[in-house]
This record gives sequence, structure tokens and C-alpha cells, in this order.
Amino acid sequence: MLLPNLIQTDRLTLRAPCDADASHLFDAYTQDPEVARYMVWRPHQSIGETEAFIAYCKQQWDSGQRRPYILTRRDDDAVPIGMLEARLLAGTIDIGYVLQRASWGTGLMTEALVAFADVALALPACFRVQATCDTENHASARVLEKSGFAREGRLERHMVLPNLAATPRASLMYARCK
Ligand SMILES: CC(C)(COP(=O)(O)OP(=O)(O)OC[C@H]1O[C@@H](n2cnc3c(N)ncnc32)[C@H](O)[C@@H]1OP(=O)(O)O)[C@@H](O)C(=O)NCCC(=O)NCCS
Repeated sequence: MLLPNLIQTDRLTLRAPCDADASHLFDAYTQDPEVARYMVWRPHQSIGETEAFIAYCKQQWDSGQRRPYILTRRDDDAVPIGMLEARLLAGTIDIGYVLQRASWGTGLMTEALVAFADVALALPACFRVQATCDTENHASARVLEKSGFAREGRLERHMVLPNLAATPRASLMYARCK
């Protein structure tokens, strides 16, 4: 499956990661415990951690197995405000997403998910775009529902979220299919 390098919506650009993103992302959210709450990573303690993360994202992008898109406002694609990561499986793309707290509640992630799923499902080899979220991550579940994803079920003991517990928690599975 060949996802495009660039996706644009009315307000957003989704693009490849670059070295200069690390300092912006650290300022924007990688050190923010509220943003990290339901994520699989702990808040970053130093910009070096975000730099290492961006280096890893660049490797993943180049490998072709994942597309960790940087989200920016369309009118300023130098300043990241979030990410949408696409993991390519057979016939399926699994996604994860995060947005800086200053931009929550304005419909931006819904806009990103709708655009991404439209692009992905237009690929002949992609039949399913899926995402899981913690059962208590109500904002994320709402975004998926608003973006046209159907709730398929509950996955028990699915994911360790280190900011909440040391043992795996239950997730909800959502998908848009063609
Ligand atoms: C989840 C997240 C991406 C949502 O992004 P966003 O751009 O704020 O989302 P939108 O503005 O498109 O929509 C948010 C919706 O959730 C609702 N919402 C927000 N907090 C909520 C809560 N605590 N309970 C219920 N609904 C909530 C909003 O009211 C809105 O729905 P509405 O339009 O019907 O009013 C953002 O909050 C985030 O980055 N969170 C931290 C990272 C994360 O949890 N990522 C997902 C991991 S699965």
C-alpha cells in the first residue's frame, strides 16, 4: 500500500517528520502529562527524548511499514501540532493520533481522521482503517465516531498504558471499511 507523502485538509497538512520537528513537539506536547495520559509513552523529560523519537519516526517512514505523519496547520507547515501514525498491515491500516492540548476541541483531529481514512480506503489494497482507544478515553472514542468509524467491540487486557497502570487495560476497537 502506497500512502501519499502529503495529505491536506481545509485546515491541516499531514507530512513526513524532519529533525526540526523535535523541539517544536517537545514544546507542543511530548512533555505534557495530560496529552500522554492514554498514550503508550511516558511524558518526555528532555528534548533529547523527543529527538530520539523523531529519529525513530524517520526510520519508520523510510522503512515503508509505517507512516508517522506530522500534523501542522495548513498555513504553517513548519510548526507541528500533533501526529497521526499509520501502521500498514495486510489489507488494513492501523492508526494512532495525538494533538497538542492547545488545539483540542476544535474538530482538528476529526478533520485529520476523515481525510486520512478517505485517502487510505481509496487505495485498491486497503479495505480497513482501524483504531483502538482506552475505554476511558472518551474524547478519542468521540472523534472516531464523528469520523465515521464503527465501534466493533471491546478488547480485554489489550494495551499497557504506563501512565495509568502497569498491567494491560481494555480498549475499544473502531474501524472504517469498504
Ligand atoms: C483525542 C484527541 C486526539 C481529540 O482531538 P480533538 O481535535 O480535540 O478532537 P475533536 O475536536 O475533533 O473532537 C473531540 C470530541 O470529543 C469530545 N470530548 C472531549 N473530551 C471529552 C470527554 N472527556 N468526554 C466525552 N467527550 C469528550 C468533544 O466534545 C468533541 O465532541 P463534539 O464535537 O461532539 O463536542 C485529543 O484530545 C488528544 O490528542 N488527546 C491526547 C492523545 C490521545 O488520547 N490520543 C488518542 C489515543 S487512542
